[in-house]
Amino acid sequence: MLIIRTIAELDSYVDSLKANNRSIGLVPTMGALHAGHLSLVQRAVADNDDVIVSLFVNPVQFNNPDDLATYPRKEEDDFRMLAEAGVVAVFAPSVEEIFPDGPENTDRKQFDLGSVAEVMEGAMRPGHFQGVAYIVDRLFRLCRPKRAYFGEKDFQQIAVISRMVETEHLDVEIIPCPIKRADDGLALSSRNALLTPEQRSIAPEIHKALADSVAYSRDHSVRATHDSVVERLDAIPGLKVEYFEIVDARTLLPVEEWEESPRIQGCITVYCGKVRLIDNISYRP
Ligand code: PAF
Repeated sequence: MLIIRTIAELDSYVDSLKANNRSIGLVPTMGALHAGHLSLVQRAVADNDDVIVSLFVNPVQFNNPDDLATYPRKEEDDFRMLAEAGVVAVFAPSVEEIFPDGPENTDRKQFDLGSVAEVMEGAMRPGHFQGVAYIVDRLFRLCRPKRAYFGEKDFQQIAVISRMVETEHLDVEIIPCPIKRADDGLALSSRNALLTPEQRSIAPEIHKALADSVAYSRDHSVRATHDSVVERLDAIPGLKVEYFEIVDARTLLPVEEWEESPRIQGCITVYCGKVRLIDNISYRP
């Protein structure tokens, strides 16, 4: 497996693929890979001539320095998993390679991300989506992919990146991929590695509450459904809901009635101890 560390190496690798008219699939990641990432890789391998997986813990999308410091990093394990999955090229640059003047001294372009970036994660994590847009835009321009793959666990991230692709006129198809879950329902996430065994045992309650609320929603209002989820999770010692929003899946704006939109999604963030877990569910697919 080719491990590419510099932009210059990446550029000549991509040039060689383009010279041979190869279609490129990109799977952007921050490493600490799990089966969810591998499902994106498998899909990318099936759809494209060549696949580049990027591994980069992007400092400018973290609004909390502790979160950046504790974010799991397992590069050797990641390389092994990707080689076993048949990946040919990994782009794993250093922070200095991407930000030669340092992340804080880099004058970053600001993107027009629209209202989808202002709610939920955007409201709770100021600057987060500008940081995501910055790195994804750079990865797109460097890797020149035909398609890029993102997991639906980060439901809002997909909406924000799709908006960026539109406003920047980038010729990349965004492919959303279904959430991968552990057998007990917990959405796979790199952050799950930070859970203590006790926290890991209560974390699946998040998905259980969401899944049960779909049946509940059939004969209850949006407000009652919302409150049933928040009350159930907040009653579990060790869990604290940061936000739960029932939204139009396209605009990400809150709905008050089930009839308001043909596609309705419930998006939640829950603190399990200090670990911030996100998940979502479809009420009206
Ligand atoms: O979803 C992630 O892991 C990150 O936000 C991404 C898209 C790789 C950008 O750093």
